[in-house]
This record gives sequence, C-alpha cells and structure tokens, in this order.
Amino acid sequence: MMITGATGFLGSHLVDASDAGRWELLAESSGSLDIRRRDAVIDRIHTWKPNVVVHLAYRRGDRQVIVDGTRNVAEGAAAAGARLIHMSTDVVFAGRPQPYTEHDRPDAVIDYGRWKAEAEAAAYAVNPTSLAVRTSLLYGTERQAVCQTDVADALDGRSRMQFFTDEYRCPAHAADVAAALVALADRPDVTGVLHVAGPQAVSRAQLAQTFAVWMGRDPGAVPTASLADAGVDRPGIVVLDTSAATALGLGCRSLADALR
Ligand SMILES: NC(=O)c1ccc[n+]([C@@H]2O[C@H](COP(=O)([O-])OP(=O)(O)OC[C@H]3O[C@@H](n4cnc5c(N)ncnc54)[C@H](OP(=O)(O)O)[C@@H]3O)[C@@H](O)[C@H]2O)c1
Repeated sequence: MMITGATGFLGSHLVDASDAGRWELLAESSGSLDIRRRDAVIDRIHTWKPNVVVHLAYRRGDRQVIVDGTRNVAEGAAAAGARLIHMSTDVVFAGRPQPYTEHDRPDAVIDYGRWKAEAEAAAYAVNPTSLAVRTSLLYGTERQAVCQTDVADALDGRSRMQFFTDEYRCPAHAADVAAALVALADRPDVTGVLHVAGPQAVSRAQLAQTFAVWMGRDPGAVPTASLADAGVDRPGIVVLDTSAATALGLGCRSLADALR
C-alpha cells in the first residue's frame, strides 16, 4: 500500500491502522514525493507497483496540490494497475437540512470544496475504478486535530476564534476513518464515492464544548457565535448520509464512545 500524505493527521492514523494488517507500506510525505511533480509521481508508483494507493495528501489553499496533484496520483495508479482510494470532504456540498447521499451532485460554495470536487472528477476521469471517500471533520484522542487545538487556543486566549452554533458537521475519529480505508483497500468492488463520517450531526459550538469537557476545561467558556452574526460565508448544515458505508460494515463511533 502506498500512502500519500502519510505524515499528516489522517495519514499517521492510517499508518498505525495498516500496521495491524498485512500491508507493506510506502508512506510518502511532501518531502519524499511532491505530488505536483507529475513525472516523479508516475515514476514512483510505476517503480514500486503497489496494489493500492491511498491518496491523502493535500495542502490548504493550494489548488495545484489538491486538483493537479490528485490527477497525477490517479494517472500513476491507473498506469500501474493499482487501486486508488482518495480522500474527499463533506464541503463539496453547499449545505442544506437534509442529509447528502453519494448520488447528490457537488455544489460547493467554498474554494476548498470546489477544488476537492474537481479532484474527485479528475481522478474519476483518469481512473474510473477509483474510490473517493468523503468524510467530515476529523478528530483524535492519541493525537489532536486542528479542530481540537483550536479550542484550547481559544480558551487560553491565544486566538479569538469563535465556534458556530449553526455550522453542523458529522465529526469522525480519524482512527475509524483509517480503519475503513484499510478495509476498503481490500474491496476493489467498491468504486465511485462513499461517505464515511460520524453518526451524529453536531454544531461546531457543540463540538468545541464537547472537546472542552474532554480536556477538563469549562465548556461555558467556549466563545460561540452564529455564522450570520460573524459575517462568515461557509456551508451551514452538511450531514453525510453514511448508510452505504454502514451496509458495508464500515462505521465511525459516536463522539461519546470515541472520547470515553
Ligand atoms: N482533517 C480533516 O478534518 C479532513 C476532513 C475532510 C477531509 N479531509 C481530507 O483528508 C485528507 C488528509 O487530511 P489531513 O487532515 O490528514 O491533512 P494534513 O494533516 O494537513 O496532512 C497533509 C499531508 O499532505 C502532505 N502534502 C502537502 N503538500 C504535499 C505535496 N505537494 N506533495 C505531497 N504531499 C503533500 C503533507 O506532507 P508534509 O507533512 O510533508 O507537509 C501531509 O502529509 C485530505 O485529502 C483532506 O482533504 C480531512
């Protein structure tokens, strides 16, 4: 199994999860393989000939990494006959009260979501048997994600971040998503798009308060606001329907179970 973005938050969980399996790993970082370099990417995949490429690499705000990099990895995997699984996001959607299924068309309203939707389409065009796994906000317990350190920073006065009461997501423990990726590596019959996310929709404010309690801090001290009051234009309610993943036996724990 080759992993791009193996040094990232999800990547480090995937490296741990794949240890439990039978995978020989090639774990890449931006330093060992820059996915913007098409020829180098194709050459590395061709030389190593992995059964599966799990593509996690991304750089915030960088369309070249997100879109062109994904296309390069998809081309390399297709040329080497490797299965490609790549990560995408819930914010390919604009937000609405009803959950989104895999059949809903992306209609992103922010660049990151637009670029991830472009990356999904680019990967699919090059490699029609690839799988895009969309997930939501990731958090951890052994390692903390940015959405957790943000809470500590706000509580300690290191930032003025506010947590929105009307921005809903389905947070997932990164270890659960990593376990799903390992299982999906063995399921070449699963192609297209699959939603793998937490079972509950919670607001960013509720999530931050939950993390505050988990950190032994006062949840009442978490600064909250509404998107509208703060003048922030971001998707509001984005709930991923995960029934297809559940039917495959893939699921993420609730916040209460994962943070227990
Ligand atoms: N975190 C979330 O809440 C979340 C939610 C939904 C979807 N996702 C998706 O899940 C995936 C993993 O996210 P993450 O949170 O684990 O990301 P992350 O912690 O920011 O890690 C990003 C990884 O990408 C690598 N990278 C950056 N630029 C690169 C380049 N030019 N060439 C090769 N590698 C490069 C980084 O390598 P270095 O360590 O060398 O910089 C790092 O290993 C992404 O596709 C993201 O869109 C994440």
